[in-house]
Amino acid sequence: MAKIKCRCNALFTIFFVTVALFTYASSLKEGQTCVDNSNCDAGLHCEACVADGNLRPRCTRIQPLSPLSKVKGLPFNRYTWLTTHNSFAKFGEKSATGSVVLAPTNQQDSVTDQLDNGVRGLMLDMYDFENDVWLCHSFGGKCFNYTAFQPAINVLKEIRVFLEKNPTEIITIIIEDYVTSPNGLTNVFNAAGLRKYWFPAAQMPSDGRDWPTVDSMVRQNHRLVVFTSKFSKQATEGIAYEWKYLVENQYGTAGMKSGVCPKRTESAAMNATSRSLVLVNYFPDTPDITQACKHNSDPLKSMVNTCHDAAGKRWPNFIAVDFYKRSDGGGAPAAVDMANGQLVCGCSTIAACRPNMNFGDCNLPEAGAAPTPTTISAIKSSGNTGGQPGQLRWLFGSDVWKFHFITDKVAKHIVSTN
Ligand SMILES: *[C@@H]1O[C@H](CO)[C@@H](O)[C@H](O)[C@H]1NC(C)=O
Ligand SMILES: *[C@@H]1O[C@H](CO)[C@@H](O)[C@H](O)[C@H]1NC(C)=O
Repeated sequence: MAKIKCRCNALFTIFFVTVALFTYASSLKEGQTCVDNSNCDAGLHCEACVADGNLRPRCTRIQPLSPLSKVKGLPFNRYTWLTTHNSFAKFGEKSATGSVVLAPTNQQDSVTDQLDNGVRGLMLDMYDFENDVWLCHSFGGKCFNYTAFQPAINVLKEIRVFLEKNPTEIITIIIEDYVTSPNGLTNVFNAAGLRKYWFPAAQMPSDGRDWPTVDSMVRQNHRLVVFTSKFSKQATEGIAYEWKYLVENQYGTAGMKSGVCPKRTESAAMNATSRSLVLVNYFPDTPDITQACKHNSDPLKSMVNTCHDAAGKRWPNFIAVDFYKRSDGGGAPAAVDMANGQLVCGCSTIAACRPNMNFGDCNLPEAGAAPTPTTISAIKSSGNTGGQPGQLRWLFGSDVWKFHFITDKVAKHIVSTN
């Protein structure tokens, strides 16, 4: 307080946001400028999107709303799941072989962190390597030390730990499958302790009918849905062949042309209703951490709408992106909230959905999307009311007041008179 009290008088509008002592988080909302992740509310982080011309760091979403916390009891195919493309290919990671990774990277955090942020679909590329199954990129279908990330069992164990800790959550793994060793996948899933969560391929609808409800999947502990890209594995190992159960748009740069949503080669037509699930990919051939924030913003939402039309007015069940945390505001989490809203209750966001409501009855006030336990009191002085929350800056406060938020004008005033 002492730092600024003398300069402010009544000339400018000043907001003081006081945070109770028992909480260390600040509470800036989506879109507000920030300097550090800790300034932002839960589910947000602080970043700029230079590719979109957004040079000032803002609080940006990294978590979708949990659709199951809004409405339970629907078939699995009535929900949308945030999905990470090459979930294992973490930026800045060294290969477990000790080699430097020369392969492209697609995500910024670990699979555990992704799951904690609400990611429920994982795309994993699996190869035979070093007498084991590894998560890898390849040249010509072969894994090398400098393209190998780590043994698959490490990440599968992270998934098991999450399923153990979260007994009502369901995870889908989509394997780009280069494993040819006999029972290679079966062995590594068993060794990771994932067998008990396995959703049996024989119980997946392949004729366009609804999936079992999420409640029944949870009751039976069938909480791990696994798809392989290898047709033969369904007969040999009981692993569901992906395109028997879902349609999928073209991945990579060719799938990012605005206004069209062509299928990928292996998939049935996007509008093939014999497949109950719809997967929308939206990421370029070469992952690009600087452009991802732009891709994951309006263009992603627009592609979700385009693919909805192409898929016979069906909203996607999986939305797969690179660098899922990057956007200029709502990003992939907002796209997932939108698709969930449409699928679950016929509204533009899952935030509007309530148990037992009529489908499409969206007009009741929405429950707070991100309730915060933080005690906030905003005190406004008299005078100029032009200051917008979006233009706030912060200074460290005394030990009683965690942060003081003051307008740009006041900040400049203080700087210039110091
Ligand atoms: C690849 O890494 C393994 C250790 O995982 C090492 O034994 C092997 O020599 C390496 N190969 C090359 C070609 O560097
Ligand atoms: C599905 O889409 C194709 C074009 O890709 C179109 O020719 C066909 O009529 C559509 N089928 C249905 C049932 O809408």
